[in-house]
Amino acid sequence: MYQSIVIESRSREEVETTVRAGVLEQGTVDMLRETGVGARLDREAFFHRGVYLRFAGRTHHVDMQELTGGKRVTLYAQQEVVKDLIQARLDAGGEVLFDVSDVALADITSNRPAISFRHAGNVGRIACDFIVGCDGTHGVSRHSLPEGTLTRHERVYAFGWFGITVEAPPSSDELIYSRHDRGFALVSTRSRTLQRMYFQCDPSERTDAWSDDRIWAEMRARLETHDGWKPVEGPIIQKIVVAMRSLVFEPMQHGNLLLAGDAAHVVPPTGAKGLNLAAADVRVLARALQRFYASGSRDGLDGYSAKCLGRVWKAQRFSYWMTTLMHRADGESSFDRNRQLAELDYLVHSPAAMTSFAENYVGLPY
Ligand code: DHB
Repeated sequence: MYQSIVIESRSREEVETTVRAGVLEQGTVDMLRETGVGARLDREAFFHRGVYLRFAGRTHHVDMQELTGGKRVTLYAQQEVVKDLIQARLDAGGEVLFDVSDVALADITSNRPAISFRHAGNVGRIACDFIVGCDGTHGVSRHSLPEGTLTRHERVYAFGWFGITVEAPPSSDELIYSRHDRGFALVSTRSRTLQRMYFQCDPSERTDAWSDDRIWAEMRARLETHDGWKPVEGPIIQKIVVAMRSLVFEPMQHGNLLLAGDAAHVVPPTGAKGLNLAAADVRVLARALQRFYASGSRDGLDGYSAKCLGRVWKAQRFSYWMTTLMHRADGESSFDRNRQLAELDYLVHSPAAMTSFAENYVGLPY
């Protein structure tokens, strides 16, 4: 019997309540359903045909369902996916250890790598066949690798996102991505009573410098239209600032340590690819592990990084493109401004360009 054990540094409560992304690609939704963890998603998620692009005071609908032969945009919060996965694992008799500390990896390049850690006052050690590092950009997995093992490809942006969670009904039936001379703004949703919105800010912005009134004035300005559209306002119950960067570590594996998700690559949030890329990595990895345990073949495992990175770079390209299309760069010239507006205008009037946007947004094939 092969088993897997999940080691998590945070508490179950924390991972199940931390607000993160909210948009699932069609392929992520299909995978959750195929794996038997799609029931609550099917009951509670919102399924959108597409998104709105707003610029120069006008709103343009991109009907992704039409453009991609039926693929939709699914709104289901990352922490809800995490809750469903934890519950499914526990129901199947799996072991998930929360509140683990002092994690250290050993013998990664041997066929018996090990993890040591502290949990509930005890010191633990697990002898493994494989270690999967799903512990994010700052996790111990990638940092356990000797210096120089991986190549780092990075681009840092001069802006961040100010994210708010609002107690209010939806402002819009679908997401609105808005390009404005004051900067980017995004209207998203979480539930019938909780809304999620973002606006471009300085990455060093402090949340306490922004009163609710100041935030709403900024959101109204950046979302203004010629026909007087206004967001539905309500109490802001959470404020966060997130920095933005594009980052890829290559290869995504070393010995018997395999990196997945943000441990291996980070995208700027525009276009909501982060969680979906992590899900795609794990899909490739699960198949490679199945093959290894069924036949002893390492081919899938040895090809893991190359297989994932092809798609990762396409998502990097898309996230970078969408970020630079919608945000105002510091010291942006009138050339940049007009180029952005021309690109948006081309996008919403060219079926070819809209199809390209749509097929990337709903998720490229695996
Ligand atoms: C959300 C986040 C994104 O990065 C995005 O592009 C759309 C929506 C969200 O958190 O709802």
